[in-house]
Amino acid sequence: MDTILKKIDEDNLEKTVFEEAGKILRNGGLVAFPTETVYGLGADALNSEAAAKIYAAKGRPSDNPLIVHIAEKEDLKRLTTSIPSEAEVLIEAFWPGPLTLIFHKRAEVPDGTTGGLSTVAVRMPSHKIARELIRSSGVLIAAPSANLSGRPSPTEAEHVWQDMQGRIDMLIDGGKVGIGIESTIVDMTVNPPMILRPGYITREMLEEKIGPVEVDKAAQAERIFEIGENYQPKAPGMKYRHYAPRADFIMFEGSRPNVVAEIQKRKQKEEAVGKKVGIICTDESRDCYFGEYVVSIGSRKNEKEIAANLYKTLRNFDETDIDVILGETVSRDGFGQAIMNRLIKAAGYKLINTDG
Ligand code: TXA
Ligand code: MG
Repeated sequence: MDTILKKIDEDNLEKTVFEEAGKILRNGGLVAFPTETVYGLGADALNSEAAAKIYAAKGRPSDNPLIVHIAEKEDLKRLTTSIPSEAEVLIEAFWPGPLTLIFHKRAEVPDGTTGGLSTVAVRMPSHKIARELIRSSGVLIAAPSANLSGRPSPTEAEHVWQDMQGRIDMLIDGGKVGIGIESTIVDMTVNPPMILRPGYITREMLEEKIGPVEVDKAAQAERIFEIGENYQPKAPGMKYRHYAPRADFIMFEGSRPNVVAEIQKRKQKEEAVGKKVGIICTDESRDCYFGEYVVSIGSRKNEKEIAANLYKTLRNFDETDIDVILGETVSRDGFGQAIMNRLIKAAGYKLINTDG
C-alpha cells in the first residue's frame, strides 16, 4: 500500500487534509496523527475490523487493548454508562490533555478494540490536529502509539514514516510533539483509582484533586524481582518489553561521581572486548565522557526537555552500530517517575547501583 503523507501546520488546519483522512477512517483505514504525547495510529474504534488492522500494522499482540480518543466530553457517553464522580473531577481538571481513564465499557465497544476486556481506556487529546481529526471525521479513534511493536514511540512524523511507511493509509505530519512520553493511565473502575502507567499527569496532581490514588506494582517497579514472575500488570501493554533500543542498554544510578566512574570503567571493559559503546548522559555530566557516541538527553534542571528527547535518543542509537548503551538515571520526582519508568523498561530492568 502507498502511504499518503500530508504535512500540516497546527495553526492553519487545512480542510482538505481532514476530509481525506476522515474518509479513510470512516472506510475502516489507518491514519497516523500527532497528539501532545506521541504520534498515534488511528482507526475507527467502533469498527472491529478497522481496529484489527492496527494490530497487523504494528505487529502488536492482540491481547493489548487500545485507547479510544474522543474530541468532546459528550463522546464519553458513547463508550461507557458509568462515570464515577472522581472521574468527573479528573475530566474537569485534566481534559483535554495527557490523561487516559479506564471505565466499564458499553456493549457497542468491540472486543477488537479492548483486547477482550470488559473495560475501555479513553482519552481526550489536547493537540489541535488530533482534536480536529476526531471531530471532523465523526469517528471515535482507537490509537496506540504509531511505532512498530517494541520500538520507541514516535515523537516526530519521521519516526512514524520509518516504522509505518507502506503499512498504513495516511500519515499527517504535524511536526514534533510537545510532551514526548505517553499519557498517564488511571483505572477508574477500582477504589481507590489506580495508576497503571505513569505520565505527565503525576500521582501528586491526581491526589490533589481526588485524594488517595494507588500505583500498580508493575508501573513503579525498578527491578524485575519487584514485580514477580507471575504478576500480571493491570495494563496488558506494560508486560511487553517496550521502548527497546537494539543495543544492550544498562543504566547506572547513585551519586554523580560514582555513576560517572562506573560508566567510564564499564566502557573501557566493553571496548576491550571489541564492543562499540554509547553513553546517555545529561548536560551536567556531558564533559565527563569521551567518545563518538556520547549523547546528552538534556539538563537535569529541565525534566520536560529530557522527556521530549528520550525516545528520539533511543531511536537514533538504532541508526548506529553501537553494541552497548550505558545510561545515567535521572530524578524520580514528579514527572521524573514517568521518565524513569520508560528508561528502565527500555533497559530491560538492567539497573546498577554504584553506591555500594
Ligand atoms: O499518550 C498516549 O496514550 C498515546 C497517544 C497516541 O494517545 N497512546 C498510547 O497507546 O500510548 P498504546 O497503545 O501505546 O498504550 C496503551 C496502553 C497499553 O499499555 C494498554 O495495555 C493500556 O493502555 N490499556 C488500554 N486499554 C486498557 C484497559 N481497558 N485496561 C487496562 N489497560 C489498558
Ligand atoms: Mg505504545
